[in-house]
Amino acid sequence: MKTKGVVKGIVSNLVTIEVDGPVAQNEICFVSVRGRALMAEVIKVIGKNAYVQVFDSTRGMKVGDEATFEQHMLEVQLGPGMLSKNFDGLQNDLDKMEGVFLKRGDYTDPLDREKKWHFVPLAKEGDTVVAGSWLGEVDENFQPHRIMTPFALEGSYKVKSIVTEGDYVVDHVVAVLTDAQGKDIEVSMVQRWPVKKPILVHVDKPRPYKLLETGVRIIDTMNPIVEGGTGFIPGPFGTGKTVLQHAISKQAEADIVIIAACGERANEIVEIFKEFPELVDPHTGRKLMERTIIIANTSNMPVAAREASVYTAMTIAEYYRAMGLKVLLMADSTSRWAQALREMSNRLEELPGPDAFPMDLSAIIANFYARAGYVQLKNGKTGSVTFIGTVSPAGGNLKEPVTENTKKVARCFYALEQARADRKRYPAVNPIDSYSKYLEYPEFEEYITELVGENWIPMVNEAKTRMHRGKEIAEQINILGDDGVPVEYHEIFWKSELIDFVILQQDAFDDIDCVTPLERQEVMLKKVIDICNMKFRFEEFNEVSEFFKRIINILKQMNYSEFRSEQFEKYEAQLVSLLQERLMEEAVATPEMK
Ligand SMILES: Nc1ncnc2c1ncn2[C@@H]1O[C@H](COP(=O)(O)OP(=O)(O)O)[C@@H](O)[C@H]1O
Ligand SMILES: [Mg+2]
Repeated sequence: MKTKGVVKGIVSNLVTIEVDGPVAQNEICFVSVRGRALMAEVIKVIGKNAYVQVFDSTRGMKVGDEATFEQHMLEVQLGPGMLSKNFDGLQNDLDKMEGVFLKRGDYTDPLDREKKWHFVPLAKEGDTVVAGSWLGEVDENFQPHRIMTPFALEGSYKVKSIVTEGDYVVDHVVAVLTDAQGKDIEVSMVQRWPVKKPILVHVDKPRPYKLLETGVRIIDTMNPIVEGGTGFIPGPFGTGKTVLQHAISKQAEADIVIIAACGERANEIVEIFKEFPELVDPHTGRKLMERTIIIANTSNMPVAAREASVYTAMTIAEYYRAMGLKVLLMADSTSRWAQALREMSNRLEELPGPDAFPMDLSAIIANFYARAGYVQLKNGKTGSVTFIGTVSPAGGNLKEPVTENTKKVARCFYALEQARADRKRYPAVNPIDSYSKYLEYPEFEEYITELVGENWIPMVNEAKTRMHRGKEIAEQINILGDDGVPVEYHEIFWKSELIDFVILQQDAFDDIDCVTPLERQEVMLKKVIDICNMKFRFEEFNEVSEFFKRIINILKQMNYSEFRSEQFEKYEAQLVSLLQERLMEEAVATPEMK
């Protein structure tokens, strides 16, 4: 018997319901308002009172309205047909709606019940299976979508029967499993899972170490992210968080990309809906949208649904990871998510933590990031969820709670800086403060050395050191004036500018420069570092800037040219002769790295 209740109080979308039976934390209920059933989630229970957050406007709701509790938490449906969909935070299919936005109390089916999928069995009668075992496979937009033993099943089961290869709808029973007591369980291609609970069907979660190539130089070269890694992009409004995240989601070598657009302005989301279907996947030449899922909750949608959206996105990501796929999950912006938490916490009149965020904000953020990761599955295969969130700290203050708590858990830090954005040095990632902890992992070093070469990590470290040194010298020149420091200082400064302009800066809106494959990143970094280690003849500081501006210009032209094309090689030849002009004799023969 389902528990029923009656509305006792309404504060915006926080509703107090007096219940006639048991209710559980995070249980879903529907409140009936003028014939519409509005979905809500239990966020606190005190005695007979359940406090629920309604995922919709509570306009028209009144004391005495009735509620029914559903005996399950907020769930998603997992099955083939999610790729290329646009969902809202409650997994409503937005394309089934009229217009982009949901009407109150409208809930749509996330999956297509009629579409037939070509099922190929992977298990056979008599096999022993456990939660997450691959029973079969369908092709979902060129991805092997594994149909798995439902995650909620405990213990092991025998496959009693499994259908033969053929075309079936998602609700068709594809396998019957028998438990230890001889009870049969029918398995279709769909299963449900509560979004706030991690899907745990792996045997191990080792430290991630394999580079996830993004084609963005400041990431791959300077601060690499790995398959199953975590990162975050803090930055004030307009510094390029969304542009950078989109560049990563378009280019990263992931099997599946999930974008959680959380609480940003509606027009930005409409832009994604327009832009993404047009994009071509640089790796396969097919439409990028085929392997993408967008989960959208704009700033004008109800706050509670915004909180749900990041969990919905993470749960779908974990589902595809359990199939042995590489999933990239992006959330923009996690600050809006935290604001949703804050609003609810305040309405509940909880004791507030710093900046009125909930006291347990740090645990909430840590638990969320902990769901990402690189996993070993029970069948020996691996899968990953890489998570990158943006943070929009008010006024760019990196000491605010969301940024600070995220910094504790995310392993990569891509700090977007107002000053760099103002100078149009895009992506405006601060080269000094940003970091990737993965660079310090011996297993990563081994991996990247194998992939790129012995001298890669030393070159990256040299580039970082030179950026530091360049910044120090720029400060000295600022204080003492151009004449106040030796000419060599200018040379060191301009060598850091060379790294900045050629490696760090990258035009996200240029067809060629926007994505740099790793091989090309290696060639360019080597060129730049070689030049940094050359000794040039300069009489006075003006010559230094003039000379380096010319070098930078040529190298930038190379960045804009097709790799190893005639044009690319023409610039390369120009570069060589330009360098010869000022090279000191003894350095000509061996432009060695340090
Ligand atoms: N990599 C880039 N290359 C060129 N322009 C950029 C780049 N990143 C950001 N911009 C410029 O900055 C603007 C704001 O970026 P956006 O990502 O929307 O900021 P945020 O999400 O941080 O508010 C963009 O519209 C674009 O003009
Ligand atoms: Mg943005």
